[in-house]
Amino acid sequence: MKVKTVKGSWSFRTNKLGFPYVFLICIFFFLAGFFGSVLFFHSQDDGHGMRPGPRLLESSTEETEYNLLLAGESGDNSITSIPFQVLSWQPRALHFPNFATAEQCESIVDIAKAGLKPSTLALRKGETEDNTKGIRTSSGVFISASEDKTGTLEVIEEKIARATMIPRTHGEAFNILRYEIGQRYNSHYDAFNPSEYGPQKSNRMASFLLYLTDVQEGGETMFPFENGLNMDGSYGYESCIGLKVRPRKGDGLLFYSLFPNGTIDPTSLHGSCPVIKGEKWVATKWIRDQEQYD
Ligand SMILES: *[C@@H]1O[C@H](CO)[C@@H](O)[C@H](O)[C@H]1NC(C)=O
Repeated sequence: MKVKTVKGSWSFRTNKLGFPYVFLICIFFFLAGFFGSVLFFHSQDDGHGMRPGPRLLESSTEETEYNLLLAGESGDNSITSIPFQVLSWQPRALHFPNFATAEQCESIVDIAKAGLKPSTLALRKGETEDNTKGIRTSSGVFISASEDKTGTLEVIEEKIARATMIPRTHGEAFNILRYEIGQRYNSHYDAFNPSEYGPQKSNRMASFLLYLTDVQEGGETMFPFENGLNMDGSYGYESCIGLKVRPRKGDGLLFYSLFPNGTIDPTSLHGSCPVIKGEKWVATKWIRDQEQYD
């Protein structure tokens, strides 16, 4: 009965206003809404920086597949999809196939070529440049995203921040490395153990490696202690054993050097096996537990 009366009053009103009039009002509000939203989104896109552009990343056609929630002011009204494979839980290591495009990789290698220098080591008590020769034989250069005028490192850095959910302000500048045939990096920790390096105000909690080239043979990133293996004290830091990650152009590798409680994960020991054939280029982003100012 109620339904009927509602219907009756509606048709009464529309009859009084006249169909063409209501139709025009509908069209007006539809167009206003449509163009209004277009203008609104354009003006947001133009402000560089504030809205890290999903359009730079995988702009998503999946919005309709998922029921998007309304995001907060600092969030995205789109779905980001970054596929990954869990390579290991000890250490916590994720592999991101096709994290970067071939063009992005080539662009990064080009910028790095200009500034290459022999890589250095953070020295422990009693270590000198002379007695640590041969541990790390690559060449490298530090480049921050803002120094890359092509904008490629900016896009990669933003994507790393999304994949890790650790703000960009925690990252060191990219360290871009080249390993030629025979070049290597003996197994080591990225985090600094206070008992060896003294007290640390800030430590490296995670590392993201972006492989910039395919390597024909060798050059794997190795985790000799993966799943607690080879930890009986017999491991000599040179042999290429344990979990080995093959470098493939555009792939990303993320691993955590610290446990959630902030202590060093002993299984995060890793190194670079010698390149046997080809040339290995990799961009490393060290992510710290404190904001990084430099
Ligand atoms: C920190 O976490 C690790 C891994 O869960 C655990 O083995 C270790 O005992 C913890 N250390 C401290 C000091 O809580």
